[in-house]
Amino acid sequence: MSGPSTYVPKSGFEQWLDKRLPVMRLMHDSFIDYPTPRNLNYFWTFGAILTLCLITQVVTGIVLAMHYTASVDLAFDSVQRIKRDVPFGWLIQSIHATGASMFFLAVYIHMFRGLYYGSYKAPRELLWIIGVAIYLAMIITAFLGYVLPWGQMSFWGATVITNFFTAVPIVGTPIQQWLMGGFAIDNPTLTRFFSLHYLLPFVIFGLVILHVWALHVTGQNNPDGVEVKDKADTVPFTPYATVKDLVSVAFFVLMFAAFVFFLPDALGHPDNYIPADPLKTPPHIVPEWYLLPFYAILRAIDFSIGPISAKLGGLLLMVGAIGVLVALPWLDTSKVRSMRYRPLARIFFVIFVVVCGALGWAGGQSPDKVIWQSSSFRIEGQATGPGGAAQTYVGAGVTLEAAEKAFEKEKAKVVAAGAAPQSSTVTTPFQFKVTQFSQLLTLYYFAFFLLILPILGLRETPGRVPETIAKAIGAKHAAAAAPDREA
Ligand code: HEM
Repeated sequence: MSGPSTYVPKSGFEQWLDKRLPVMRLMHDSFIDYPTPRNLNYFWTFGAILTLCLITQVVTGIVLAMHYTASVDLAFDSVQRIKRDVPFGWLIQSIHATGASMFFLAVYIHMFRGLYYGSYKAPRELLWIIGVAIYLAMIITAFLGYVLPWGQMSFWGATVITNFFTAVPIVGTPIQQWLMGGFAIDNPTLTRFFSLHYLLPFVIFGLVILHVWALHVTGQNNPDGVEVKDKADTVPFTPYATVKDLVSVAFFVLMFAAFVFFLPDALGHPDNYIPADPLKTPPHIVPEWYLLPFYAILRAIDFSIGPISAKLGGLLLMVGAIGVLVALPWLDTSKVRSMRYRPLARIFFVIFVVVCGALGWAGGQSPDKVIWQSSSFRIEGQATGPGGAAQTYVGAGVTLEAAEKAFEKEKAKVVAAGAAPQSSTVTTPFQFKVTQFSQLLTLYYFAFFLLILPILGLRETPGRVPETIAKAIGAKHAAAAAPDREA
């Protein structure tokens, strides 16, 4: 806890308990009298929302596990039974499945908040790194959970991802077989994925305790990014932060409920309503929306670099995309914490957010999808006319197939006129495909951390940072009270 304890046990019982196990003191100092920066905005309520998400997932998950059967023959049907026959099973299953998306939505806002306001900077490096560990554990948990309903996407998603391990030299294939519990995704895979999916949320719980502990040691950052100097900069956690958290939680729950009750399948993939079939590969294997940016990075590399195959390159980049977050506190060289006072960094940050969104889009598309092409496909044929004269004819189209069709038509006309076709040449236009787009986006993703933030921190001239939170608030209030004078 930051600062000395202000807890005074009132009743006899409280005094008795305080001498033996000071939990009331801990609660009081953490959630009642905890000095909270007075300038926090609503982005600081997402920690509370995330705590709610974690509890919701654990509680609904435990109930689901009472009815779920982790066997390849029964898993799909057991989920259907939960949805149709178990009292309120439809509700619990829907909350759990939708809850995963809500959890990630909240965590992304929480992380972007941290990035924008520089909450990862000293002395909160460890707080941030524990956050990254939580995020990684969330990704693994979500991936494992998605396999459990044993639908087509469950099965093929697991196949694609475990297959990526084979790209690692020497140890890759043994790791893949160890993960699968055999030579293919089968019953042993399902049972171990279920076991780990049940275990990991408790690891996340432990990490969250460390996260909040670290937070209470350093104190909270705030939108102005200046440290708390004295009492004038803070307000007690209760009622100020508590009420704000409750308002946010209420809105979040309303949105959550809208998905649970009206759009329970909107965020999932329809193919997962088809039972897993190892003999039938779906045309597009895609993960859930919250993992799509990483999927795009994984597939962005379609060329090998020396001994590094395309597959290994993609895997390294995907791991690196999370790894770079660990190094972030030392990569950002700026002395100013909040981007509120960093006009240039702010622009690059906005581009970064758009890039992450675009990576998500790219991850959901077929890698060969053409986004832009310079001109049409053109097939030019040469023929010798009845009198021996050379003749040319052309078929063009947006796709090669369309060009071929048009070409065949022209050729038929030429043949009907008595000419003999000799040869043909195809002109392929330049095509900008999803893979190339993903490569550009991946480049920016890494450049943002490895080049832009380190260089900008040294070169950028920041705005004037207020000395204290109280002064920042005072300046804002003065401007609001007398806007003309400010102008
Ligand atoms: C289960 C997931 C998580 C939970 C329950 C959680 C919980 C919290 C809570 C309660 C706070 C204080 C209130 C607030 O600032 O909103 C907080 C702050 C913070 N969290 Fe998390 N968090 C989670 C995941 C993450 C992740 C994934 C990251 C980053 C990778 C992260 C980074 C931070 C940072 C840097 C702060 C300090 C913010 C500041 O004071 O400016 N957290 N978290």
